[in-house]
Amino acid sequence: MNAFTYRQGMLCAEDLSLERIAERFATPCYVYSRAALTAAFEAYRRALAGRSARICYAVKANSNLAILNLFARLGAGFDIVSGGELARVLVAGGKAKDVVFSGVGKTREELQAALAEGIGCFNVESESELTRLAGIAEQMGLVAPIALRVNPDVDAKTHPYISTGLRNNKFGIPIDEALALYQRARMMAGIRIRGIACHIGSQLLDAAPAAEAAQKILTLADALAAQGIVLADLDLGGGMGIRYRDEEVPSTEDYLAPMLDLLKDRREQLVFAPGRSLVGNAGLLLTRVEVVKHGAEKSFAVVDAAMNDLMRPALYDAWHDILPVRLNGANERVERVQEHVYDVVGPVCESGDFLGHERSLALAEGDLLAVMSAGAYGMAMSSNYNSRPRAAEVLIDGGQAHLIRNRESVAQLYAQEHIAPL
Ligand code: LLP
Repeated sequence: MNAFTYRQGMLCAEDLSLERIAERFATPCYVYSRAALTAAFEAYRRALAGRSARICYAVKANSNLAILNLFARLGAGFDIVSGGELARVLVAGGKAKDVVFSGVGKTREELQAALAEGIGCFNVESESELTRLAGIAEQMGLVAPIALRVNPDVDAKTHPYISTGLRNNKFGIPIDEALALYQRARMMAGIRIRGIACHIGSQLLDAAPAAEAAQKILTLADALAAQGIVLADLDLGGGMGIRYRDEEVPSTEDYLAPMLDLLKDRREQLVFAPGRSLVGNAGLLLTRVEVVKHGAEKSFAVVDAAMNDLMRPALYDAWHDILPVRLNGANERVERVQEHVYDVVGPVCESGDFLGHERSLALAEGDLLAVMSAGAYGMAMSSNYNSRPRAAEVLIDGGQAHLIRNRESVAQLYAQEHIAPL
């Protein structure tokens, strides 16, 4: 579903024009649609109907409390990678028992906190994590439910920075070593084996690698069963891609179908941990053009959002559509503006600070632009580089706008700092 559409030449978020949203909350500002978030979640639910399955939203994609709360109310569990994410989930109304804890470097404090809260499952990524966790659990007089996250050595065919299931990635336990480690885990008093987990990468546009990984997981689950180790959960991770530009993206149902087909006779509960596909296209970054510069070779539109607000273009050379909030010709003034090819850039002092290269736009200073598909890994990866306060976040629900994160103030940026008494 697309919650961001033009009405009479004006880009709207559900029933509100982005111009009104900018007037009320200023820019830069992340804008999310409740309807789009809900529709993305429901698409998973529909695709998994009739199966024993859990959707554990990958918090890292967008960890705003309001978004977590919305997913909790829709019945989601959560996939976390830090103690900070666990705290957010609990504050937002999620239940620890519905949380799986992934990540290659969980600290003792994080393991303790998660055990104390009664977390649903630890997705263990190394032998030392397993022994550490077993020790902590025993000390606390508890038993830690675990899955081993295995690395199936499958090429996810995505950007190398977000590919995680290859033998040379840091993630998971090599699949051919997993059986031996399960056997060790079985002997550990502080450990209860719950399942097996894998996640091969992100922004996957083809269902085949995910199905290939699922097949390898099944083979391992069967080998474990033959040893008397029966699993309750099969966690197949996240990774489903979204359309940023013109990618051919399968529907949620089509993406999951080959996997579900392989899994159709299984008794285990299936766990999916989608992030991007639940939030990516449900959010945009609203920004205003500060300066228009026509250089000798290039024209630049310098906007008030930058790489610190949305770092995906700088980091992965990622494409985000950039749309004018008011369509050319939608009013008298805009009609007088000439279309040019612009690099849309931020004010940060780096040449890598861009939101889009070579975009044809008719714009003038003061105009609003919407950087699309920014709901996932946008605000979550933002920083304060150049002492820029982070953007506000707004959740739209029909004709209502809710401020879900205040714009940071400059004073907050240095509130934790101290001048040394030299
Ligand atoms: N589960 C695990 C263990 C993960 O590492 C990830 C993402 C997910 C689930 C969710 O994957 P998704 O459904 O969102 O693809 N910053 C990058 C993406 C990094 C993804 C990291 N892991 C980007 O902006 O493209």
